[in-house]
Amino acid sequence: MQKNYLLAGASSAIAQTLLRLLQADGHRVVGLSTKDLSGVGYDEHHQVADYDKGSLPTLSQPLDGLVYFPGTINLKPVNRLSEEEFLRDFKINALGAVAVVQQYLQNLKNAAAPSSVVFISTVAVSQGMNFHSSVSMAKGAVEGLTRSLAAELAPSIRVNAVAPSLTASPLAERLINTPEKLDASNKRHPLRRIGQPGDIAQAIYFLLGEQSGWMTGAVLPVDGGMASVRML
Ligand SMILES: NC(=O)c1ccc[n+]([C@@H]2O[C@H](COP(=O)([O-])OP(=O)(O)OC[C@H]3O[C@@H](n4cnc5c(N)ncnc54)[C@H](OP(=O)(O)O)[C@@H]3O)[C@@H](O)[C@H]2O)c1
Repeated sequence: MQKNYLLAGASSAIAQTLLRLLQADGHRVVGLSTKDLSGVGYDEHHQVADYDKGSLPTLSQPLDGLVYFPGTINLKPVNRLSEEEFLRDFKINALGAVAVVQQYLQNLKNAAAPSSVVFISTVAVSQGMNFHSSVSMAKGAVEGLTRSLAAELAPSIRVNAVAPSLTASPLAERLINTPEKLDASNKRHPLRRIGQPGDIAQAIYFLLGEQSGWMTGAVLPVDGGMASVRML
């Protein structure tokens, strides 16, 4: 049966990989982005000024799933992070996720079967990493939101998250833009490589689909072993 999915932050490399997985199954995918998505291949797309309620379009169709992609990798020593930067990271990563769920709650409730919301956290929430204080605080809020909404919206809407480690995308570009940086990042992971957009997209695809129908409130590590494995 054809289903309707909404991807917010739809220019993301992971979102575009997920788009192809969903369309290969015959589903219809709507993209929201601050960028122009013409030519990317979404079945419907809307350019938004921001991820706050006043900027989000109204949709009439029921939604079987929603994924919120917008995020930041703002890495600095704590004494160089301004309050404005903490607030900006919190707004993009966490408040935007709330606004999108609020705006499309009725669409999610109107789906024929339980619908699924997926958020994106980071390995830097469960694993302390230097220079990550702002992003780990913002994504920590996303993990709290995942569990809180999972309780509040059960059983009609499932809410889960994925927690990736470093993944090859424009957001991570300056961390892996030389052979030396890439090699060091690959070696830091127990599975000896950084993530590819497909690694994360496949996990989100699973959380959106019926195969994960008995999961809610979970934060799935997709991180090459970073959060839980130590090589001796
Ligand atoms: N790549 C990694 O190493 C890594 C690791 C852990 C977690 N993540 C998370 O994965 C998610 C997807 O990122 P990606 O790796 O696929 O990166 P990407 O391809 O560079 O996509 C960037 C994402 O952030 C949004 N964005 C960028 N600047 C923004 C701004 N100023 N205001 C609002 N939104 C903005 C984009 O939305 P628009 O479509 O509106 O531009 C897009 O969804 C993010 O939440 C990120 O935190 C990534």
